[in-house]
Amino acid sequence: MKTIFSGIQPSGTLTLGNYLGAMKHFVDMQDENNCYFCIVDQHAITVPQDRLELRKNIKSLAALYLAVGIDPNKSTLFIQSEVPAHAQLGWMMQCVSYIGELERMTQFKDKSDGKEGVSSALLTYPPLMASDILLYKTDIVPVGEDQKQHLELTRNLAERFNSKYNDIFTIPEVRIPKVGARIMSLAEPTKKMSKSSENQKSFISMLDDEKQIMKKVKSAVTDSDNEVRYDKENKPGVSNLLSIYSLCSGESIEAIEEKYAGKGYGDFKEGVAHAVINTLKPIQERYNELIDSEELDEILDQGADKANRAAQKMLVKAERAMGLGRKRR
Ligand code: TYM
Repeated sequence: MKTIFSGIQPSGTLTLGNYLGAMKHFVDMQDENNCYFCIVDQHAITVPQDRLELRKNIKSLAALYLAVGIDPNKSTLFIQSEVPAHAQLGWMMQCVSYIGELERMTQFKDKSDGKEGVSSALLTYPPLMASDILLYKTDIVPVGEDQKQHLELTRNLAERFNSKYNDIFTIPEVRIPKVGARIMSLAEPTKKMSKSSENQKSFISMLDDEKQIMKKVKSAVTDSDNEVRYDKENKPGVSNLLSIYSLCSGESIEAIEEKYAGKGYGDFKEGVAHAVINTLKPIQERYNELIDSEELDEILDQGADKANRAAQKMLVKAERAMGLGRKRR
């Protein structure tokens, strides 16, 4: 049995990209593995958040995890800030990180580029992410492609710690899906679909209703040759819609190309929208049942207890390895 860890930031309603690139795969992994799924609220505050909005988003993300099929009897679902060991080991991981390697992270460069008042935590975000993963002796981290660089750094930091102090950390492997690892923006299909985008039309939220989904897909940027064909380089918009269609419907890209051969983008987009709606509708129904339930809080309480027990053990090992505090009996 392997240990799996992954996290999602509660920084706005999740997109179809988060679902197809990450969450969907979490569900498949829970039967045969020991899984930890985290709501990484401490990562979310590396950029300014409205406190009430953040609280709402944390609960909403918890409900979404369950609505897509995360089963609390099989997996541990918890909130990062309710397990203090994350921030504690995060600090220690900062102490083994170099400023230069953190400044090279693409996500840091993208998020800080041209901005004033960038928080220092945006730079030290990856050591906290390393802490999240290393606390649980994680073997595999399922993520979308944009997190690959952070995972490489996590491995480097773990190896550095192990060789400098004591060999305590498991070196985690990254698991990126073959299709859907990078769902692109509907408005600018050469950029990834992002929940923090200001253009509402660029992403499909997991909670968008049928009308909104239809409207957004219909306005998705394509090209002028009117041929439904997968060609990521020359037809990024159509290729992105084909990936979405295929992942949502389970049909292969070739089968979809064939189905729409000789038909225009209008029909194709309608098909994409229906596939998305059919995927999200049952999730939304379950979400609505859960969002105000007491069950949700109970699950999060139990998750925090379980995660705290596991994380505390590793924290003590790391403190001992570095020589923090007093010798414990
Ligand atoms: P976050 O919250 O930005 O995204 C959550 C997950 O969704 C994936 N994802 C995508 N996949 C495909 N296409 C897209 N357009 C797309 N957008 C997002 C992300 O790759 C991710 O898997 N740093 C992380 C959160 C984190 C974490 C961790 C992840 C904190 N600690 C430990 C794994 C392990 C983040 O910001 O993800």
